[in-house]
Amino acid sequence: MPETFSVGLLGHGTVGAAFAELLRERAEGVEHVTGLRPELSGVLTRSRGDFDDILENSDLIVEVMGGLDPARDYVLRAMQAGKHVVTANKQLLARHGEELWECARNNGVQLRFEAAVGGVVPVIRVLQESLAGAHVERVTGIVNGTSNFILSQMAEHGSSYAEALAEAQRLGYAEADPTEDVNGADAAAKMAILARLAFDTPVRLDDVRFEGIDHLTADDMQYARDLGLGLKLIGTAERVDGGISVRVHPAFLYPGHPLASVNGSFNAVTIESDAITEVTLSGPGAGGSQTASSVLGDVISAMIPPASTPETSESLPIVEDVSNAFYLSMEVDDQPGVLAQVAEVLGMQGASIKSVLQRGLGTHARLTMVLHPLLESRFYGAVQLVSRMVYE
Ligand SMILES: NC(=O)c1ccc[n+]([C@@H]2O[C@H](COP(=O)([O-])OP(=O)(O)OC[C@H]3O[C@@H](n4cnc5c(N)ncnc54)[C@H](OP(=O)(O)O)[C@@H]3O)[C@@H](O)[C@H]2O)c1
Repeated sequence: MPETFSVGLLGHGTVGAAFAELLRERAEGVEHVTGLRPELSGVLTRSRGDFDDILENSDLIVEVMGGLDPARDYVLRAMQAGKHVVTANKQLLARHGEELWECARNNGVQLRFEAAVGGVVPVIRVLQESLAGAHVERVTGIVNGTSNFILSQMAEHGSSYAEALAEAQRLGYAEADPTEDVNGADAAAKMAILARLAFDTPVRLDDVRFEGIDHLTADDMQYARDLGLGLKLIGTAERVDGGISVRVHPAFLYPGHPLASVNGSFNAVTIESDAITEVTLSGPGAGGSQTASSVLGDVISAMIPPASTPETSESLPIVEDVSNAFYLSMEVDDQPGVLAQVAEVLGMQGASIKSVLQRGLGTHARLTMVLHPLLESRFYGAVQLVSRMVYE
């Protein structure tokens, strides 16, 4: 029997229940990576479980209950007892981070919190590990999926703020009480954590100025559209005049901005520094199973020494012929019926045209087209047929 690694779970709501299920599903895979079989040692909710029992029987505590108390007390006690802790609790870290990190250092345990910012987007790891050597100048983020969903609805469908919020609630992207999401407080907590990591300086939540999206109107979205700009709730943490500024507010974005195309409930964070120029990470910002996967990633990291890469456990075949929406550009004689002939030849290989542009070049014309997805082998077959037609 493999040695087990006991995980105590505080909270069994959206994230906690999804984590418990994922841990069961992935136990074998985790064992392969770590050499230890993870199992739940106990679950605490308001109506079941006892914290002291769970603590005694666990190697690591996952805190996904939320709130400040008793979460802070439980996390401190777990670390003082020499247990690693994984938490998704941004408010706890934004308010008590320094105390908790100090406790982790003093007790030689890990306090991991990837799921606290950006949902699945692995921005904590990237700031703490991958970019630890980059002198970060600025972190810009869409870090609240609810607000981003509402603004995307307003921009795409011309909805009012109230209509977009109701749609977000209907689809489960907004809580029954969405106050902290729409007034910027949730994003402020996340930006405080990111700024702390990026600039290696204490950042108090009170230091973060924030404004939300709850006062925006359909007219604001229309002005943005008229100007050719996007309107997003943006968190910014940057070095300014020898200090730092951390703030959250709605902002216009020009179309090429890395965060301009981040829509719906997605989150994204752009990190800038002279050394790296710019890195943008994006992905689902919340959701039970998504957040649970981020929490499990932290649990696995806490179980193994850093930077070990296990032997592979699978031997998957490489698929060479994959389906893609191909782009094709060709010069043809500018004569009636040429496009129809090209379409017919493409059709012989099962390729159909999604969109086409034709530009005259004197006696010739350039046809530029995007095809519906088809297998690469069929596409190159079609290209051969078309080139015979064009050049023979
Ligand atoms: N939901 C997301 O998509 C998401 C994404 C990123 C981060 N997070 C963070 O993850 C944490 C959990 O979020 P969630 O959405 O899973 O919350 P949730 O659905 O409200 O679940 C909270 C769980 O914690 C338990 N709990 C709360 N207070 C407790 C107390 N005093 N004693 C014992 N148990 C208590 C609740 O017990 P009962 O069942 O008895 O009420 C429930 O099982 C929060 O910090 C949140 O900010 C959530």
